[in-house]
Amino acid sequence: MELALQNAVTRFQELHPESRRLHELALESLPGGNTRTLLHTAPFPVFMRKGEGSQLWDEDGNKYYDLVGELSAGLFGHSHPTLQKVLTDTIQNVGLSLGATNVYEQQYASLLCKRFGLERLRFTNSGTEANLHCLAAARKFTGRRKVMVFRGAYHGSVLSFGDGIPENNVDQNDWVLVQYNDSNGVQEAFAQHDDIAAVILEGIQGSGGFISGSTDFLRTIREQSEKAGALMILDEVMTSRLAPGGLKETLEVKPDLVTLGKYLGGGLPFGAFGGRQDIMDVFSPLTPGALAHSGTFQNNTLMLHAGYAGLSEVYTPKVVHACNSQGDDLRRRLQQIFAGSKFCVTGQGSLMYIHATETRLLPEQITRRDDVGAVESTELKKLFWLELVNAGFWVQIRGAIILNIVTPASAIDAFVAAVEGFCSRHRDLI
Ligand SMILES: Cc1ncc(COP(=O)(O)O)c(C=O)c1O
Repeated sequence: MELALQNAVTRFQELHPESRRLHELALESLPGGNTRTLLHTAPFPVFMRKGEGSQLWDEDGNKYYDLVGELSAGLFGHSHPTLQKVLTDTIQNVGLSLGATNVYEQQYASLLCKRFGLERLRFTNSGTEANLHCLAAARKFTGRRKVMVFRGAYHGSVLSFGDGIPENNVDQNDWVLVQYNDSNGVQEAFAQHDDIAAVILEGIQGSGGFISGSTDFLRTIREQSEKAGALMILDEVMTSRLAPGGLKETLEVKPDLVTLGKYLGGGLPFGAFGGRQDIMDVFSPLTPGALAHSGTFQNNTLMLHAGYAGLSEVYTPKVVHACNSQGDDLRRRLQQIFAGSKFCVTGQGSLMYIHATETRLLPEQITRRDDVGAVESTELKKLFWLELVNAGFWVQIRGAIILNIVTPASAIDAFVAAVEGFCSRHRDLI
């Protein structure tokens, strides 16, 4: 293993001298040379110069197929012609900061409400903010403070629950932590706490591996929250892309509130949350004592136009199905290659996650992040990442693969062949 890793690092360094130089420069103004923790990699990060279609070019001139898809914000690929046109038109004919209510926010809100089955909606600048404001709404509506959340969840930069509750998490004392897919745990937590305002979860938990919530788990949350007078919040920042009306459309149970983000900004910063009118009305300026929810860029014209065009003209229901069946197909092919090895792949549709573990696991054995956490092989993961990046595939270091809608079948075939090559080269290690 050591030799394989050493060779991969050496090759990485040979291929990326300019990235190394830029990283050293970045160290002089950014802590650790970084402004997004997730993107830090050792020995240094790859600096990307530009993207076009389904491809990326780094500062050393190396070309990659983009299989990160900006963690779902890059769903449209790079420089989609519809988005380019709408952004240029908006700059030329509308302007950027109107400093007033505009019709574009009503139009996009109405489209989002129809598409995702929401009665009322509000915009934010990010998925993190959407979740924070959604929790504020739940607290105001119920008059309670505690929130049930699941280990391994990521609901934003200050709402991360990877290995418990990190220092920079907001509201340190207000969380009730339960294991994902643990129906009994949900029941017990409701029995112990009679002051829970809301349960927040993803229907497929992204951080830790795009792990699907079982029907029983989701049903238990819905039944127990209803009984306790708590709200159910479905974080669809990632998963709304999985079906035309979001993952929610495919679930048996219906949440009270939903949060949205990523690609719905058409490539620009975006967040939104919405659902039941009686809850969302806690923000209505028409109601005395309403919650304030301000934000300079919440109705910015570029995001509203790009988001509207992206959802109505590009990510149509037909494209939603095509993109996700391409993902299902890729996952099947990868799992065939990984069979009997220390690698496996979990996920749904165009969202997937490659795991490397010391003991062999089947995808269906992974029902929560801790199933992998204790046995994860960081060395195998690193080797996989380095070799795939060296071979021209931009994959995420933790293992997420997130497809964009412009990746050609030939690129998927090339990726599958590269993974096959990796597995046969390292048969003895995996
Ligand atoms: C499920 C989920 N919720 C919320 C967020 C936060 O979104 P943002 O990065 O726009 O703040 C993310 C981001 O990765 C996410 O995956």
